[in-house]
Amino acid sequence: MRFDIVTIFPGYFASPFGESLLWKAIDSGVLEIHLTDLRDFSTDPHRKVDDEPYGGGPGMVMAAPPVFAAVDALRREPDAPAPHVALLSPQGRRFDAAFARELAGRPRVSLVCGRYEGLDERTREAGLFDEEISLGDFVLSGGEAAALAIVEAVSRFLPGVVGDAGSVAADSFEDGLLDYPHYTRPQTFAGLSVPDALLSGHHEKIRRWRRDRQLAATALRRPDLLRTARLTDAERRRAEELARTGDPE
Ligand SMILES: C[S@@+](CC[C@H](N)C(=O)[O-])C[C@H]1O[C@@H](n2cnc3c(N)ncnc32)[C@H](O)[C@@H]1O
Repeated sequence: MRFDIVTIFPGYFASPFGESLLWKAIDSGVLEIHLTDLRDFSTDPHRKVDDEPYGGGPGMVMAAPPVFAAVDALRREPDAPAPHVALLSPQGRRFDAAFARELAGRPRVSLVCGRYEGLDERTREAGLFDEEISLGDFVLSGGEAAALAIVEAVSRFLPGVVGDAGSVAADSFEDGLLDYPHYTRPQTFAGLSVPDALLSGHHEKIRRWRRDRQLAATALRRPDLLRTARLTDAERRRAEELARTGDPE
């Protein structure tokens, strides 16, 4: 899968794309990242891409012409799949695991990072973007951190990126529930022991304990998720009981 990132700070991505799972995904060719420096599309002698807002007020606005030119260049690139072009924006569709999985099914996604007060509204009015993506109800100083989070979350769904596919399947949100708790050595720490079920060596017992702890974590921390989680009738009853009475464990 290919991501394009349009940004005025291409250097921002050097370290995260050069480390760990993302680096391995890029090195193995599963993931391709193309960085576009928006300033390359400025016609200003000083490579300026922002200007003062009409009507006055605080801050600067990203001018429309360089953004149009950069997106146009991505769309016209020969021998590449047509990009799905998304603007990163606090006003966009809220990003989540299902959204990440959806993007992972696309061959090419282009992420446009805003800065300052955001982009000249005519980029929207002209329908330049296929959609807008928000990381959540808060305001970042730029779209770069959002782009990075999206690339990382999406790439976990690409085959071969996470060594053990089972670990993605067991992640929080995969079946609508939060993840179960994890423990490693030492067996006792700070007076706290690893739960007996995990030491039993009994696969079915471990599976049942983990499922129950997923229900408990979700019922206590994110009961809103239970509405759409895929549960058996018995699991739903158990989750509702946990939400009502709290967790005795
Ligand atoms: C300082 S913000 C602009 C905020 C804008 N004035 C507003 O209040 O809606 C600059 C850029 O950061 C990015 N950004 C900020 N918050 C974001 C969020 N929650 N999700 C995705 N991108 C975000 C967008 O690209 C935005 O254009």
